[in-house]
Amino acid sequence: MNFDNSKHLLNYVNMDKFHLEFVDIYNSLEEENIEGYKNVMMRIFEQTKLHFCSEENLMKEHSYPRSKEHSDEHKKVLYEMEYFIKSSVTSVGKKFLKSYYREALPYWFDSHLLSMDSDLASFLKNNS
Ligand SMILES: [Fe+2]
Ligand SMILES: [Fe+2]
Repeated sequence: MNFDNSKHLLNYVNMDKFHLEFVDIYNSLEEENIEGYKNVMMRIFEQTKLHFCSEENLMKEHSYPRSKEHSDEHKKVLYEMEYFIKSSVTSVGKKFLKSYYREALPYWFDSHLLSMDSDLASFLKNNS
């Protein structure tokens, strides 16, 4: 997964640092076996909780008007991550975790940054 400066860099340090770190953790997968996927997913999950918490604090501090939709989307993603990690004890669950990691997560990262996070970053830059 590549961090593409032209679309992923929002030029707001307190958000960019979490996004860069997300890609670093994502790319740290060394062993393409289920334990490898699960370990990386657990690290992503922990880092994502901090990432979302930081954005939600920024929304509150700056009275961001679209915080409800944005926070709801965050909740949904954390729920999914936890669900796929927990389900990975069965062989079907292992396949789902792998496809979630390989397909859904990069797609989510891209679309969330291009929509909700870029909107938040431009709001913060214009209102501080
Ligand atoms: Fe973000
Ligand atoms: Fe976000």
